Amino acid sequence: MTPYVADPVYLNGRFLPLAEAGISPLDRGFLYGDGVYEVIPVYSRRAFRIDEHLLRLQATLDGIKLANPLSLADWREVVFRLIDAAPWDDQSIYLQLTRGADDKRDHAFPPAGVPPTVFAFASPLVTTPADIRARGVGAITVDDLRWSRCDLKVISLLANVLARQQAVEQGCAEALLLRDGYLKEGAASNIFVVKDGVLRAPPKTQLMLPGITYDVILELAKSHGQPVRVEEIEETELRAADEVWMTSSTKEILAITTLDGKPVGKGPTAGQPGPLAERMWQWYQDFKNSVMRKG
Ligand code: PDD
Repeated sequence: MTPYVADPVYLNGRFLPLAEAGISPLDRGFLYGDGVYEVIPVYSRRAFRIDEHLLRLQATLDGIKLANPLSLADWREVVFRLIDAAPWDDQSIYLQLTRGADDKRDHAFPPAGVPPTVFAFASPLVTTPADIRARGVGAITVDDLRWSRCDLKVISLLANVLARQQAVEQGCAEALLLRDGYLKEGAASNIFVVKDGVLRAPPKTQLMLPGITYDVILELAKSHGQPVRVEEIEETELRAADEVWMTSSTKEILAITTLDGKPVGKGPTAGQPGPLAERMWQWYQDFKNSVMRKG
């Protein structure tokens, strides 16, 4: 076992040590980035919103016209077995499918007999340390150079990789993607803003990944009576926001406290995590604890 990946991993119907898991260099994931993935957080050995993640996986498979080789029940079985075998209580389950390996390189789909490659593994869930959460993180804005089906969770992530790297090189945690003057999401997160007490989020379109955490946050806001507006956010509104957050299955809710080097928010608390970020983080923990950790 590496400290990051638990043994066994799952590959094409078998559970085996990572060191023995091999795929063809002609795999279309390797040649074309022709595949899909999911990341499912696990708390106290329970997969969080597993059915929602598996439904999003199905939607992405439908979007790239790749038949799902496993039923929902089979997927659940694979995930539960990985969770059981891993040494950590809180985990992150990674699932990936590609369009398999033909005996040649050709952009068009391979013949029907070529099976998809299916790979999955468990890693420890790395949560944000309390001091970083208390300070918040920096972000930059970049042009969104991705394709037009960002609602699909595909493994071709080069534009996301380059955007995130640009952020890292500037000492920041995330790059916020702007397209035609509107905020879409982060390189690997959804983005929320707060203005005058109202929580705002961009709507689900083909230009944004429909985050599972995004849904949970909107549900929590509703159940706690927090005013919400789901509508397109202009770049100027992003820059004038009182709070900006990034959200994802692995980051949960993390306040962005500087944007392009300038403090987020106004007045004496500018550049600090805002009150709603803190409240939402607590609601999220309470929700997790009540749904996942009891019993
Ligand atoms: N990324 N938008 C993008 C582009 C993402 O890559 C992610 C998650 C999200 C948030 O989705 P969710 O709340 O379902 O995790 C939004 C995962 C964690 C990753 O690529 O590792």
